[in-house]
Amino acid sequence: MLTDPSRQLRLLIDSVRDHALYLLDPEGMVCSWNPGAERIKGYSADEVVGTHFGRFYLPADREAGEPLRLLRLAAQHGHVASEGWRVRRDGSSFRASVVIEPVMEAGELLGFVKITRDITEQWQAQRLLRDAQRALRHTQQFETVGRLSRGLSHEFNNLLTTIGNALDLLSLRVASDVRASELLDAAQAATDRGALLTRQLLAFSTGQTLIREPVDINTLLQQWLPDLQRTCPAHVVLEASLAPGLPQVSTDAMQLQTALANLVANAAEATLEGGRILIGTALEHRLDPDADTALQRGYVTLSVCDEGHGMAAEIAERATEPFFTTKDIGKGSGLGLSQVFGFTTQSGGFVDVSTTPGVGTTVSLLLPAIEDPAHDR
Ligand SMILES: Nc1ncnc2c1ncn2[C@@H]1O[C@H](COP(=O)(O)OP(=O)(O)OP(=O)(O)O)[C@@H](O)[C@H]1O
Ligand SMILES: [Mg+2]
Repeated sequence: MLTDPSRQLRLLIDSVRDHALYLLDPEGMVCSWNPGAERIKGYSADEVVGTHFGRFYLPADREAGEPLRLLRLAAQHGHVASEGWRVRRDGSSFRASVVIEPVMEAGELLGFVKITRDITEQWQAQRLLRDAQRALRHTQQFETVGRLSRGLSHEFNNLLTTIGNALDLLSLRVASDVRASELLDAAQAATDRGALLTRQLLAFSTGQTLIREPVDINTLLQQWLPDLQRTCPAHVVLEASLAPGLPQVSTDAMQLQTALANLVANAAEATLEGGRILIGTALEHRLDPDADTALQRGYVTLSVCDEGHGMAAEIAERATEPFFTTKDIGKGSGLGLSQVFGFTTQSGGFVDVSTTPGVGTTVSLLLPAIEDPAHDR
């Protein structure tokens, strides 16, 4: 029979296994310890009774005086409830829900009852839920932006095509008027810039569906070079060094053109003092980052190398993020490199960026070559 009240109390406290339930003296020294406390914190009664309860706190909280602050609050208000990280005997931390009640007798503070619960699992579940909700909101926002960009970019593309055609016709009529031709060139360059922006937006908004076909990069480059040269300012010289006899690659020529236009635009923008931009092609053999085997395969490399201002490490790290730009508002979308990365990755290739502040930047697209398997090494 359970008649002895102190035995009843002992049994009650010892039966509580989900909560650490123990007494502190007014200074915070541990006076009693139950099996729940041992289970949650890992210490046996012998190890903790007579030591300060501050040992369960993270060092930073302990140094900030958190343990005694909670005792003071409990003494003042008759109760304190808090939540925070605590440390187990093995050094691991857990999320604790803590209640501290002062024990008073005839107006004198005898100590405190402290109840601690390990709520790590709930805390983690809540975090996961919150992260999932944030991710969902983020996706919804992206979808909205995507829809908006898709609509706008189609509209703008049509408008810019009309303007571009009109400018072309006009420039034929005023060919003998130097000043008028200059003005038309400036208008045409602005139209080209607008067209690039709308293509970037379109690429971003549709998640870039590629229309892949075997292409010869050198042949395409030779077609595109005059237009690319036109987009560069006069103080920038665009040169090409194309390796002969390259294998074909399977990619979307339109997207490749946009990617190259983005890279040349970036290079020209970085070459403020004037300098050279070199477009190069080559065949390289590299390990396929997606393959399980250590076999090398052929990649056609298309690189754009500039002698511009380069990128500091913190800019290079973020340069390919969508909408990341160091330009002023209204000057750049920050979608250029993100298109380049997205497109290259979707083509089964990868992008190498090497940059040195004050020296220049080389961005290389490595696109998997269509090769006779016998040639794979
Ligand atoms: N060749 C380069 N040299 C130096 N910095 C570069 C170069 N290419 C990219 N960057 C940096 O990376 C940033 C992001 O480039 P990205 O092409 O994605 O956007 P953007 O050029 O700022 O905008 P947009 O392409 O729409 O004009 C740039 O703002 C610039 O700071
Ligand atoms: Mg750019």
